Amino acid sequence: MAFSKASVRDAAVKGRRVLVRVDFNVPLKDGEVADDTRIRAALPTLELLRERGAALVLASHLGRPGGKVAPELSLAPVSRRLSELLGVPVTQAPGVTGAEVELAAGCLGPGEVLLLENTRFEPGETKNDPMLAGSLAALAQVYVNDAFGAAHRAHASTEGVARHLPGYAGLLLEREVTELNKVVEDPARPLVVVLGGAKVSDKVGVIDRFLEVADQILIGGAMCFSFFKAQGKEIGDSLFDEESVAAAREALAKAAESECELTLPVDLVLGREFSADTERRELDGVEVPAGWMGLDVGPKTGELYAEAVAGAGTVLWNGPMGAFEMEPFAAGTRAVAEAVAAAPGKTVVGGGDSVAAMVQFGLEDKVDWLSTGGGASLELLEGKALPGVEALIDKKEES
Ligand code: 3PG
Repeated sequence: MAFSKASVRDAAVKGRRVLVRVDFNVPLKDGEVADDTRIRAALPTLELLRERGAALVLASHLGRPGGKVAPELSLAPVSRRLSELLGVPVTQAPGVTGAEVELAAGCLGPGEVLLLENTRFEPGETKNDPMLAGSLAALAQVYVNDAFGAAHRAHASTEGVARHLPGYAGLLLEREVTELNKVVEDPARPLVVVLGGAKVSDKVGVIDRFLEVADQILIGGAMCFSFFKAQGKEIGDSLFDEESVAAAREALAKAAESECELTLPVDLVLGREFSADTERRELDGVEVPAGWMGLDVGPKTGELYAEAVAGAGTVLWNGPMGAFEMEPFAAGTRAVAEAVAAAPGKTVVGGGDSVAAMVQFGLEDKVDWLSTGGGASLELLEGKALPGVEALIDKKEES
């Protein structure tokens, strides 16, 4: 299905103030931005609007301050980084709404940029409070949503505000939706999906959808232990949760009826405990002895998964194969990352951790589409409507 929402390219913005919702929910370290991927991803939309003579009022959340001001979650470091990347000054507003903010927005000239404070400092943001949405809307004449990563949230700055202003899709949001939809709707075959991470219960919807549309699902990461437990295997001290075991049991039953092949690891790397310097051993098999926990898939599994990825027409990867942040347990994730980077088919990587793995291994430029969305990309792939996208005007409604 073609993207049905009106694009920022078609918005009349010259001489107008545009409120742009971006997802600048980025990691901070020592008061500075530790990874600016999401900021860079928003630049094309911001540059397009500046070139076209709009004044920009930017809004984003950062972390989960719970409706209270938390100085350590101020967007000030983001303003600094954005200013470097755009090559123009970016004014950091002292709050999200209020007289001072209105004044700062009102004084903006064409091409100038104001970044509001963390929208989640306001209790009304996550409650989608109409008052807050109205105050945000009062800062501009046009709304653009480029915050794909937050598009699954029906919050005041992602959904409510679009009831007050004509809402257009930013370039990133449009591309994300288009690329991810293509994977489920029109993939080059075979479609191979590699899923990892901790909890099956977080990914049930995605597993269900891909059991219908994919040719093969390869499971790795701690979530494989919920599958093994559901199969009655010994998992030692490996991570699992009851909800995920129930979900895994259902997924196995569905897989038995489906044409899609659900593949589990055939070997593992074990540790005594969750730490980089713990005692480590490889296990040829998947029955984990007492006193050990699975922390990575084994070398045979890495090879098997890499082969499947190499033979795919389309690969979607979401979730690491093991505790890749600890070198002794990074090999399985590295094997998948390298296979994805080298794959001749179309490659899409989504979810914060697998994107972080591609970056850690220096392979981020070797993927066709690296999604900036975690939860949002999963919900889209599941087939759920994203409130932040739904709220935008349809192409045909454009005036
Ligand atoms: C993300 O990092 O996935 C998005 O910015 C959404 O953040 P949230 O899960 O706190 O709503």
